[in-house]
Amino acid sequence: MRILALDTSCDETAASIVDAASWRLLADEVASHADRMADFGGVVPELASRAHLIALPLVVARALEKAGMQPADLDAIAVTNGPGLVGALLVGTSYGKALALRLGKPFRAVDHIEGHLYSPLLGALEGAAAPPFPWVALVVSGGHTELYYVESFGKKTRLGSTIDDAAGEAFDKIGKLLGFPYPAGPEVDRYARENEASRSLGPKLPVARTANPFDFSYSGLKTAVLQAWLQDPTEEKKRALVPAAQEAIVAQLVDRVRRAQQQYKPASLVVAGGVAANSRLRALLPEATYPRLRHCADNAAMIALVAALEHRSGTFTPDPWDKDVFARGD
Ligand code: KG4
Ligand code: ZN
Repeated sequence: MRILALDTSCDETAASIVDAASWRLLADEVASHADRMADFGGVVPELASRAHLIALPLVVARALEKAGMQPADLDAIAVTNGPGLVGALLVGTSYGKALALRLGKPFRAVDHIEGHLYSPLLGALEGAAAPPFPWVALVVSGGHTELYYVESFGKKTRLGSTIDDAAGEAFDKIGKLLGFPYPAGPEVDRYARENEASRSLGPKLPVARTANPFDFSYSGLKTAVLQAWLQDPTEEKKRALVPAAQEAIVAQLVDRVRRAQQQYKPASLVVAGGVAANSRLRALLPEATYPRLRHCADNAAMIALVAALEHRSGTFTPDPWDKDVFARGD
């Protein structure tokens, strides 16, 4: 069972091939369009869709070449159908459906968040030990901040999610405010590490309380950082403010995770999504299983993994061709 997986949910065009029988990743290709978006300070959905249209056939061809396969060797196609930018998703799902239809192979829609959620298992494809279930799982990306209790593959309960901005969005928006280019998260991480000694000179920033103790909120923090910056927009202030802001973003994630661990007593903690690359988060949650850095960002290997796990657990049910591709997911 060799599955081609595609993800075009945001500004990365990704294609991956997994062999679900031998449990090996045969190809894992990503073309990022983030550089092109930097001029605009964020993702321009129309430009992202056009970039996917151009890149997708090339990225798929490269994945097939890496795997040493022809299209006819594929047994199934799995494609991210949401959440994400609608135009961008439409490019990937239409391409995937057309290819599956042409090859006469099954098509399967995969939820992007499920991809991130199970991405800490990607290490197992390379021989690492899989974190045992049940998990407390934190999915932190540019679009999502969600906390789950996962009993086993496919059996999850969402404990909480952001009520306004996602953690990655907080990194990006606060970073933009302080002059970092898009996507600001990695730059804020680097700058905060270099200026960690100045953190104590920064303002005391709020860690939001929410009605559901497992929810997240970042809009108040954004306003507090803006006010502190407008009072004193100097380089010296920036050196204190950036690590203080990062600490506040991360402290809220750690707070919710610790509460969930206390309540649910999981066997493992897993952290995934773009913000799982953050060095301060990794330092404060050292016991967690994280995907490799390249699999924290958007990729198709995690979509291939979900399809392979579905195949293994007997839940890989091909979607009918007339299915509304945006109907799945929560
Ligand atoms: O998972 P991802 O690639 O795309 C979405 O599905 O959103 O996550 C991208 C997000 C961006 O907000 C980016 O700034 C953030 O992850 N990010 C980071 C770091 N690396 C990426 N945030 C904080 N520290 C990092 N090192
Ligand atoms: Zn993502």
